[in-house]
Amino acid sequence: MKNVIEITGLRKRFGSGENEALIFDGADLTIERGSFVSLTGASGSGKSTLLYLIGGLDRNFTGDIRIGGKSISGMDDQELSHIRSFKLSYVFQFYNLVANLTIEENILLPIELSGRNTKDYTRRLNELLELTGLTAKRKYYPSQLSGGQQQRASIARAVLTEPEILLADEATGNLDKASGDEIMSLFKRLNEEKGITILQVTHSAECAAYGNRIVKLVDRKLVDC
Ligand SMILES: Nc1ncnc2c1ncn2[C@@H]1O[C@H](COP(=O)(O)OP(=O)(O)OP(=O)(O)O)[C@@H](O)[C@H]1O
Ligand SMILES: [Mg+2]
Repeated sequence: MKNVIEITGLRKRFGSGENEALIFDGADLTIERGSFVSLTGASGSGKSTLLYLIGGLDRNFTGDIRIGGKSISGMDDQELSHIRSFKLSYVFQFYNLVANLTIEENILLPIELSGRNTKDYTRRLNELLELTGLTAKRKYYPSQLSGGQQQRASIARAVLTEPEILLADEATGNLDKASGDEIMSLFKRLNEEKGITILQVTHSAECAAYGNRIVKLVDRKLVDC
């Protein structure tokens, strides 16, 4: 399967009547396995909405969204939660680490919550702590880390489950430039060395340039730049 995400004729609206807002109107997007796509567009244009739709978190749309060749409209809750546990992961602007868990406990949390054995992930955990430069901080608590370090921990948490697709919503939006550059370099390594397909939302042209394709949300459609 060459295309990991295929969106065709997407229509999405919020509200109804006077309060209706049409966010997508015939939007198409195909993302090939192994690509690193940057999504840009005006504030309020629907970028976050698109990531929610792709993850099946908002099922109220028309058109077709396929993940790994399979239409998410036809999936039941169990199939969708399987996809969210194994196929795609999210990284957000605010890292949402659990304050009273250490960095390594935080990274292991999705494994623990899905009922899997964390021992099976020891090797990958160690590898990701190295990759994210957090080995020395593994026993620390989130409040003892910088914003950039916390974001790197949230990325390690997102990729420990070996997802095929990483969806990032303004992952550097809360960071200074140096920390933001570190996150972009980390994304690039995850993309190139681990083959993870990345779709990142960003307002920064510099961050967008780390991707190998830039897509813009304009006039309710998705267009290549
Ligand atoms: N649950 C909701 N109910 C009603 N309207 C919503 C809802 N979620 C989003 N919207 C509206 O949909 C539009 C797109 O929102 P979205 O958050 O996707 O924009 P965005 O492109 O991510 O913006 P930003 O760059 O500011 O994060 C906005 O006008 C927003 O107000
Ligand atoms: Mg947004």
